[in-house]
Formats: sequence, structure tokens, C-alpha cells
Amino acid sequence: MEFEANMNVKPHVKAFFDEDSNTISYVVKEPDGPACAVIDSVMDLDYAAGRITQDHADEMIAYIEAQGLKLEWIIETHVHADHLSAAPYIQDRLGGKIGVGARIMEVQEVFGKIFNEGTEFQRDGSQFDALFEDGDTYQIGAMTATAIATPGHTPACMVHVMGDAAFTGDTLFMPDGGSARADFPGGDAGELYDSIQRVLSLPDDMRLFMCHDYGPNGREIRWETTVREEREHNIHIGTKSGSAVTRDEFIAMRKARDETLAMPRLIIPSLQVNMRAGELPRDDKGNPMLKVPVNGL
Ligand SMILES: [Fe+2]
Repeated sequence: MEFEANMNVKPHVKAFFDEDSNTISYVVKEPDGPACAVIDSVMDLDYAAGRITQDHADEMIAYIEAQGLKLEWIIETHVHADHLSAAPYIQDRLGGKIGVGARIMEVQEVFGKIFNEGTEFQRDGSQFDALFEDGDTYQIGAMTATAIATPGHTPACMVHVMGDAAFTGDTLFMPDGGSARADFPGGDAGELYDSIQRVLSLPDDMRLFMCHDYGPNGREIRWETTVREEREHNIHIGTKSGSAVTRDEFIAMRKARDETLAMPRLIIPSLQVNMRAGELPRDDKGNPMLKVPVNGL
């Protein structure tokens, strides 16, 4: 895909950190108008109690209303395995279209089986308002956004570029955080390497906004870096420490590391909700209900 970044367009980016899942959600506003997008919203879940609340989303909604913004898009960079999306809740209140990568269909196929979903669970991505292919563009007011396919962590992962800002999802973490795991069903460390190279080929000064940060080695939480910083200093792929990391070296590193990682605490509810664009599954009486596939993951 040929992609020409427009570094003269500088959107305003407001971050909202969710302490429970270490997720960063964003409101991105076009430079010269009220149009905005929400990236990777979070619904609060007390899993032990089976209780859902919307404090995090309410905070974003209050911000959008207070600033007089017009919400046009609600973007999921991928099907998250560590938190539940609040996309439908936000859409009910503020409008906007929910968009995700078109390869969501592969994710729905895999997890539709694992959660033994019936035929009423559509595996065609129709729960979303827009399915992006690599290189697809969409408008946030006068600002053009481009979705770039970055599979590897999951098949449907995309990085969304808006002017001089890019929202990386889980394709990269901060330089001292490295990269995301590639061992979920449909994940692929080699593909992740190739996708990271695509991100690193963006302009040096492009601002990169992370979806997660865990404050490695006790540093404070951060979520913004640049392509140059990642290219030089990323601990999994940066060039500063010596020769460039090869694809095979990266795959071996990822495999060894992924074997040590436990499943994310909220993976089971997250997948069931996020593969439905943030809607809760329902039982045969229509009540919201989550499943646990025993030894299924
Ligand atoms: Fe993720």
C-alpha cells in the first residue's frame, strides 16, 4: 500500500488512562473544527461481581460534550483481550460510526467456535458500522484518517494515522515496553515483525500513541512517543543497541517471552463482548450473560 503522511495536519489528542486494564483511550479532534473520533474506549467490569459500569466512558463523553465536539467515529484498533469496549454505550449517547479492521471476521470465526456461539452470532463483521481494509481512508471532519493493516498481535489489528499522529493499538508499546504478545489464536510473531516495520517506515517525527502502558521498571505511565524513538530505542526491535533485529530473531524472542505470559485477567469476557462490537452476549431470555469455556483457550 502506498501511503503519503500529511505531517502538516496536527490533530489535538486527549488521553484517558484506565488504571484497571492499563489501557489508554483517546479523543482525537481535527485541528480546525469540532469533529472528533474516540479510539479504544473502555467499559468498566468488576469481573468477580459480574457488574458493569461506565465511569471511564462517561468521563470521555463529558469531555466531548464540554468541548462542544461532534463525535464522528468510534474506532477499535483491534479486538482487545484485556478490556471491554464501551463503543455502543458511547454511540448511544453521542452518535458516530463504530469501525474495526475487516479481518474481524477471522477473529469472529475462531472465537465463535471457542465460545460455542450459535448461528445467531454473525461472523461477517455486521455488528460494526465500518470494516476497514488496508489503506482505507475515512473523514473526521476535514481531517483524513487512514487505516493501515498491522496483523500479528491479532489478525484484525490496524494502526490509524491522522495527520502527524498514529494510534498504534498493540502493534508497539513504548520503547522500553517493546511489543505485544503474538500467541493468541490468529496471532503471528513474523507478521507482527512485518507490521512493526510498516509503522517504523512512517515519518520520523510522527507522534505515536500507545493503547497500553505498564510502566516498566517502575517508571510513571506514558503513552506518547515518536517513530524515531521507537526505531532507535525499542527494546524488542530498536537499532540503537547494535545491528538491526532480524525477523527470525524477533520471532524467537517473542516465542520465548509469550510462553511465560499468563492469560490476561479479562480475556474471556473481553473477547465475547469485543467480537460483538462491544455488545454483551445474551441468553435465551435476552439477559446479558457471559460464558466460560473450560479448558477452551
Ligand atoms: Fe490487545
